[in-house]
Amino acid sequence: MPETCSPDGVFRRAAAVPHVGDSARATAAPGRGADRTNALVVGSAAVFDRLVWRDDRMLLDDLVFRLEHYRNERWELEDACFGFYKTKPLVDQYAKFWSRRGTCSLKNILELGMWDGGSIAFWFELFGPEKHVGVDSQRRTDSDYFRWYVASRGLGARISTYWGADQADETALWDIAEREFSGPLDLVIDDASHRYGPTKASFETLFPLLRPGGLYIIEDWAWAHWSEFQGPSHPWANETELTRLIVQLVELTGSSTEVIGSVVVYQGFAAVERGDAAFGSGRFEIESHISRRSPAPRAGPLSWIPRRTGQLLSRG
Ligand SMILES: C[S@@+](CC[C@H](N)C(=O)[O-])C[C@H]1O[C@@H](n2cnc3c(N)ncnc32)[C@H](O)[C@@H]1O
Repeated sequence: MPETCSPDGVFRRAAAVPHVGDSARATAAPGRGADRTNALVVGSAAVFDRLVWRDDRMLLDDLVFRLEHYRNERWELEDACFGFYKTKPLVDQYAKFWSRRGTCSLKNILELGMWDGGSIAFWFELFGPEKHVGVDSQRRTDSDYFRWYVASRGLGARISTYWGADQADETALWDIAEREFSGPLDLVIDDASHRYGPTKASFETLFPLLRPGGLYIIEDWAWAHWSEFQGPSHPWANETELTRLIVQLVELTGSSTEVIGSVVVYQGFAAVERGDAAFGSGRFEIESHISRRSPAPRAGPLSWIPRRTGQLLSRG
């Protein structure tokens, strides 16, 4: 049974067992971490070639990521790993997405939803940003393995984690961004609550902090379309679909070329590119930038009566 991901024990996703290719290396090769490839260029699928997939783990050089969806009792490494809430099909979609984007440099990354810190290390190793900051509402601290990862690579000045911070807390996010980054954000990855309200709140807070051309990724937006979420007794049965936010972002894209440059949608995530708009000091609200037709004039509620009455009368 897959583990749950959020502290409230609701968000979990069944997934196909990851493919373990014959060509996968038997052991992870140490010595190729992002700290040693400082000026990593994104845009080549080659960075994903470093990943080695096993039935219950993903290896990235000397790092071990325990796949939470495929936990089993045969685990021999105790806590010497990151817990990781991604699957191979999802990571493959990311590989495709980044390889199609061409060259770009990601210096400042903010990630919502860390779980056990595995995704922080994953993205950091792939992109080698100057600064990577993680936020999560869990009241915990970094794991020993995470601390070892940061210390062994001398990343203390480049990686920061904020536990106990809610993604819907606009003031907290602003404070963190102001304290941690010396320039605009290049990438935000939201893999936190997956609920409509908090996800929209963080988007409205953080999207204006991206540089023009910067990306805002919303992971697992499609949960309402997955059978395991569709039962009437699922705890999220009455939860607003996150699809609604993606549709609003598409509507916004159609309304202005300035606010959103593009929206790319995969099953596992949606990537929203910031346009060139200069956002003022007021709060950014998605709805206020969407242009829609006025609703078509509707017939009044009793407008059928004369016609119906006429039919009845003519019959008599
Ligand atoms: C899907 S897991 C993150 C997985 C991680 N990114 C990974 O790939 O391994 C979701 C995380 O979001 C956090 N979370 C849930 N609701 C949140 C909220 N409102 N604000 C901040 N974090 C939240 C949970 O504590 C959990 O750690």
